[in-house]
Parts: sequence; structure tokens; C-alpha cells
Amino acid sequence: MIFTSSIYKIPIIKNVIVYDETDSTNNRAKDFGKNGCVDGTLVISDCQTAGRGRIGRSFSSPSGEGIYMSLLLKPEIDESLISQVTLLSGLAISRALNNDFQINTNIKWPNDLLLNQKKITGILTEKCEDFIVIGIGINVNNKQFDESIKDIATSLYLETDKEYEREELIEKIMKEFSDLYFTFLKEQNLKSIIDEYNSKLISYDKDIYVIPYEMTGKLNNSYQITDDTLPIFHCMGIAPDGSLICRDSSGKLSQLNTGEISIRNVH
Ligand code: BTN
Repeated sequence: MIFTSSIYKIPIIKNVIVYDETDSTNNRAKDFGKNGCVDGTLVISDCQTAGRGRIGRSFSSPSGEGIYMSLLLKPEIDESLISQVTLLSGLAISRALNNDFQINTNIKWPNDLLLNQKKITGILTEKCEDFIVIGIGINVNNKQFDESIKDIATSLYLETDKEYEREELIEKIMKEFSDLYFTFLKEQNLKSIIDEYNSKLISYDKDIYVIPYEMTGKLNNSYQITDDTLPIFHCMGIAPDGSLICRDSSGKLSQLNTGEISIRNVH
């Protein structure tokens, strides 16, 4: 993949490192961070041999098809605010797809983007020493998926019948992220983007199952709910700290934090 100098005009980007192949761009970015690499280092690979998702899942990363990139940042914020940066990343991708390519995605709080109800993007944010790594995987020109994920994953190509230049997408996404990130560093909360975020939230004003992480591994990969005992909540959107406000059947409100649960819409 070849980038022109225009990527360096994006305020957040200080350094771009491109691989033809690596195990995981998150691993590379972590190594760079440990060796003192600058805030704003973007690591991109044409393919990954061991792309990672959350909860020990893998992320399919074939050559020439998707975007696999990790941004190393050293934000001077309290550790408790880091999960909000993940939410900003999802919004940045959704904004770029909408504004520059007229593709309308939904956000599945906190980490995924959906297109026509299927997963198009996953985000894996990892904290290490004094830096964070935001890993972004986007299914762009993929023509097919493995049997095990074909019902839940899709690509921009499969949904729009067009191929996209990954370099252009990456620049547009980083521009949106840069704007959102610098505003966030000043405000240290998500107040200014709550309405926009909720308007994209797939579960907004819907009933959802809240699934503790210990259980997500036990659900089969086709994402069917197999346990009737899961409580049902009504989703009221995100709070300024990025948590998800939910109402239980008795009317009691609670705020769910990222990292502790997973949610599925009740159909
Ligand atoms: C998920 O779906 O749970 C998150 C997927 C994150 C995938 C990206 S691809 C670039 C970066 N490198 C990785 O190994 N993972 C992230």
C-alpha cells in the first residue's frame, strides 16, 4: 500500500509505517510504543497472519481486501477515560463512510460497526505502559467470508457492489478521528457527540440482552442467544462518559461500562 504525503497533513498523524505482512498491527504498534515511538504513529499492514479481536477471537485479515491498522497514542488523560477513545474511533469510521462515501453504518456499542445488520468493522483498543493502541479492522473489498462468519460479517464491496481504495478510506477516517480526538482531549467527555452517536446506535431505544463476557465465549459464533435466562433491558443511549444507559423491567436505570459486557438486540 502506498501513501502520499497528504496523510501527514492530518494533525494526529506523525509517523506512518506500512507492512506487506505482519502478525498483528496491534503487536507492531505495541513494540514501537515500548521502544519510545512517537504519539501519532500509524501502523498499517496489507494483511495479518494473526489478526486479533476481542475476547480472544481472531480477525480474518486477507491480503488486498481489508484495512488493518493500529494507531499508537499517548493521551494525557485519566486511565478511566480510555474506553471513550474507542467510541470516538467507531464514530470517526462511521462519519467517514457516511460523509465521503455515502455509506450508512450503525454502531454496535462499544466496538463494532454494522452495515445492513452485519459486522463491517471491529476495534480493539489495548493499553500498554504509557500509551494506547487503537486497532481497527475494516472489511473493504472482501468477496466472501468463511462459512463460520458469513452470516454475521460483510464487506463494503458485498453491500455496495463497488471496490474502494483502502488508502483513501484510511486518510478520510484518520481526518475524522483527528478532529474528534482533539476536541475530546479538551473536553474530556463525549457530551458534544452524544446525539450523533445515539442516532447511529443500532440498539438505541430498543430492547437488548446484556451478556457478561464470561458468557460471550459460550455463545456460538453465529451470535444466537442460547440462554433464555438473560435479563432484558431497554437501551437509552450513551452517557457523557461513554457508558450505555439501560432501563430494566422495573424502570431502574443503570450504566453499563465497556469491557464488562456484550449486548445483542432482542429481535
Ligand atoms: C473485534 O472485532 O473484536 C476487534 C477486531 C480488531 C481487528 C484489528 S485489525 C488491526 C488490529 N490488529 C489486530 O490484531 N486487531 C486489530
